Amino acid sequence: MNVKPLIDFISQSPAQTALAGEHLGVACKGGEVVWLSGELGAGKTVFAQGMARGLGVEAPVNSPTFTVLKEYRGRLRFYHFDFYRLAGQARDVWAEFSEYRASDAVCVVEWGEHGQEFLGEEYLKVSIRHISATKRAIQLPARGALYADVSRRFQSVAFRA
Ligand SMILES: Nc1ncnc2c1ncn2[C@@H]1O[C@H](COP(=O)(O)OP(=O)(O)O)[C@@H](O)[C@H]1O
Ligand SMILES: [Mg+2]
Repeated sequence: MNVKPLIDFISQSPAQTALAGEHLGVACKGGEVVWLSGELGAGKTVFAQGMARGLGVEAPVNSPTFTVLKEYRGRLRFYHFDFYRLAGQARDVWAEFSEYRASDAVCVVEWGEHGQEFLGEEYLKVSIRHISATKRAIQLPARGALYADVSRRFQSVAFRA
């Protein structure tokens, strides 16, 4: 399937990337799976921290690289996964991924490409590409009707006049 990028912009700073994440958090209604894609240091965790803020999570959000999954609660439940070290025992935990998908939860997955089979058919992919020390190209192509809707709400939050 050819996925057309719906949203495409340049972030000039970590704060802008976090703000974009915050807007996406505000746009989420629950049930979303967000796949954060990009190389090490691209800004996936920065984006996820912004999403947490947009979802009203007050606890500090750190990279879940070494802990498989971190759970938070805000306006919705917020599950922050990192598939980077998807191997061995951890794989059993990831295999339960579908149980975390719930109508009152948002699942955010860094390195989703390391376990794409767990993500299902529908997800919102956020691609972050390093351009320079402080610049990142961010794209949000949507898969599925739910995400087209989230993307539209994101655009109205992020780009309103
Ligand atoms: N425009 C930007 N957006 C996001 N992060 C940026 C940007 N410019 C510089 N950075 C820096 O890049 C790093 C991104 O780290 P992190 O979010 O942990 O990456 P990842 O989770 O993708 O490995 C941080 O040190 C951040 O300060
Ligand atoms: Mg990270």
